Amino acid sequence: MNKITIAIDGFSSTGKSTLAKQLAKKLEYIYVDTGAMYRAVTLYAMNNGFVVDGEIDTAGLIEDLDSIELKFVFNQDLGFAEMYLNGENVERQIRTLEVSNYVSQIAEIKEVRTRLVALQQDMGKNKGVVMDGRDIGTVVFPDAELKIFMTASPEKRAVRRYKELLDRGEDVKYEDILENVQKRDYIDSHRENSPLTKAEGAIEFDNSDMGLVQQFERIYEHALRVI
Ligand code: C5P
Repeated sequence: MNKITIAIDGFSSTGKSTLAKQLAKKLEYIYVDTGAMYRAVTLYAMNNGFVVDGEIDTAGLIEDLDSIELKFVFNQDLGFAEMYLNGENVERQIRTLEVSNYVSQIAEIKEVRTRLVALQQDMGKNKGVVMDGRDIGTVVFPDAELKIFMTASPEKRAVRRYKELLDRGEDVKYEDILENVQKRDYIDSHRENSPLTKAEGAIEFDNSDMGLVQQFERIYEHALRVI
């Protein structure tokens, strides 16, 4: 079978990563969660004094970018790769609401994007990759053979995210999650550098009312058509 590149973009909490993991497993492809990379840079900024009183020291962070080492390490038990920041497993820390509250501002910084996009292009250079994010089909792999653009209503997405965080033992309010989802949607789709838009040739999926199994089957069918 031909190895291809699958680019999955869309708003936050549309289930991109669940779908991407399922596809990668089924096709025996690498899965790259690019949101985890922006989240890890955000965690680094928060832990190293580049976020003070809610303000981001952009110039300081840019100067420090060379000190940030990001790595995905496959976890056999979980069946997917986890994010390591400078040698430390930060998979849990990068998923908190606090990190979510700053990540879209960090992801607006051109220098951060240039660096992460180069890493992502390198990870996918041999194809056989499913990558999810906001700019995969538009910037990282504009020639991807299969591009998916996922949407769902903000309320449905906020409910999913709320349940996820509660399951992880976080003490969060639904209203705060909804506000975060809407704020990130706005910043991600209005920023100057690589805004979230549907890539040319992308297939759009609104999964507000679609079950996971049904969604996977429909997208897998599309994948088989191009492989
Ligand atoms: O996918 P996830 O919701 O974890 O991504 C977190 C944030 O990282 C997004 O809201 C967006 O600001 C940023 N991001 C991005 N480009 C990507 C992936 C994520 O700007 N390719």
